[in-house]
Amino acid sequence: MSSNALYYCLVVIAINYLSSDLLRIFAYSTLLFWIIFKNIRYYKSLPPGPWGVPFLGILPFMNKRPPHLVYLNMSKQYGDVFSIQMGSNLTVCLGSTKLMKEFFSRNDSTDRPNTPLNNLLEGFGIITSQGALWKRQRMFLHEKFRALGVKLWPNTRFEKSISMEIDELIAELQESDGVPVNPGYLFGRHIHNVICQLMMNYRFQADDKNFTMFNERVIRGMQLFGLVLFGEHVPAYLKLPGKMEVLNEIKRNLVDISKFHGDHVVERIKQRANSAHNKEPADLLDCYLDKLDEENSMDSNDKKNIFPDVDPVKQIVQVMNDLFSAGMDTSLTSLLWTCIMMLKNPEAAEKVRSELRKFVAVGEKVTMAHRLQMPYIEAVVLETMRVASIVPLGTTHVNSKDWKIGKYVVPAGTHIVPLINKMNMDPEIYPEPELFKPERFIKDEISYGPS
Ligand SMILES: *[C@@H]1O[C@H](CO)[C@@H](O)[C@H](O)[C@H]1NC(C)=O
Ligand SMILES: *[C@@H]1O[C@H](CO)[C@@H](O)[C@H](O)[C@H]1NC(C)=O
Ligand SMILES: *[C@@H]1O[C@H](CO)[C@@H](O)[C@H](O)[C@H]1NC(C)=O
Ligand SMILES: *[C@@H]1O[C@H](CO)[C@@H](O)[C@H](O)[C@H]1NC(C)=O
Repeated sequence: MSSNALYYCLVVIAINYLSSDLLRIFAYSTLLFWIIFKNIRYYKSLPPGPWGVPFLGILPFMNKRPPHLVYLNMSKQYGDVFSIQMGSNLTVCLGSTKLMKEFFSRNDSTDRPNTPLNNLLEGFGIITSQGALWKRQRMFLHEKFRALGVKLWPNTRFEKSISMEIDELIAELQESDGVPVNPGYLFGRHIHNVICQLMMNYRFQADDKNFTMFNERVIRGMQLFGLVLFGEHVPAYLKLPGKMEVLNEIKRNLVDISKFHGDHVVERIKQRANSAHNKEPADLLDCYLDKLDEENSMDSNDKKNIFPDVDPVKQIVQVMNDLFSAGMDTSLTSLLWTCIMMLKNPEAAEKVRSELRKFVAVGEKVTMAHRLQMPYIEAVVLETMRVASIVPLGTTHVNSKDWKIGKYVVPAGTHIVPLINKMNMDPEIYPEPELFKPERFIKDEISYGPS
């Protein structure tokens, strides 16, 4: 926009140098006509959407409602693809699997928004990184996750660490001895432990001060983000009184979270320097440090360069922050919703029980080896995640080239938001979408009569 404005100024100055009044009037009207024409063409080529106000777009109409619900509402009116102006950012929402698939399989769809809060992470990690850094982290993490046993197979190292947490969780639940407990906190620590074991071979003990600190920072962080969300799209908003303090607290929060992971990274680097470590990597941190050692010993021409132009420790720490924030809340919310669904759907709960009774002996533990025998339980998990839309919006992407959808053009630099909640409620894929029906994920009828 600003380069356009500069361009128009130059043209206006040039017109002022014209000698005759008539010529000037003619030139001005041509320019005006051209600007109007260009804008009409621009707006006509965009997917449909509501009108906003200048500079702010639809932000004044959000009324503190969560964006995912506002978008879901709009998709009822405008359909599977619509555009809205969020402050200075043109935003296009995608509501159908077909469009999401088309967009995300393009090689020019992987940029990230260049907005103030996003930029706090400086492009490190995996969630806000882009280009070569993002691509290499993604490939590396996929490979190493599989190597560390993150897959749906029995007896992996990953399953063993989950199993350890479950033993402790069950013991803790039994200790409560019939007194109601809030499972959120208990589940939270054990999920966090699974993530920490995978990342850096670490577990929080019960009543761990560090865990409490971590939890508080994360919950506070979410509140703070809500207070400056408009600033993402209208930079002037962050100049309002009080907003700078919020931004500074967010920064301090991030520093605390990073310090926790950073201390572990530094500690491990020291440990490795003091001992031979040509053994199997114990966790993701070892995988990263092995890779760094390998690259440091290589000719610069042979390096794949997993960390192009970034400080490796900062990058590893941010990957850990990202894995934590992507893994923790999603897993915890899924588990809590599964509990709620079992309470609200006693018939489904009964089927879960009978599947368990059929394949797991009393006192035996459920393991990954049971998975294929118990399709109903897997379907319950999938259906819970669908109905509750654990993650209602996918992460915002930015397209680096224009994208044509039928008669519309989404110009390069648009914020693209996948409406996962809309997709999950698509009646063509999920008939009667508002009903909780795990059976929809099962092809063949299963029956659990008395055996
Ligand atoms: C959705 O639209 C309905 C009717 O137009 C309105 O009453 C409701 O407040 C809207 N909800 C959100 C979250 O925008
Ligand atoms: C992206 O895909 C287009 C065709 O779909 C191709 O022409 C282009 O070379 C690709 N670019 C990269 C960087 O792979
Ligand atoms: C979106 O808006 C922000 C804040 O106004 C701006 O910095 C950014 O360049 C815009 N565009 C993109 C693609 O993020
Ligand atoms: C908390 O973490 C720090 C490292 O960030 C560590 O030095 C300290 O021992 C930990 N405290 C507990 C109680 O584990």
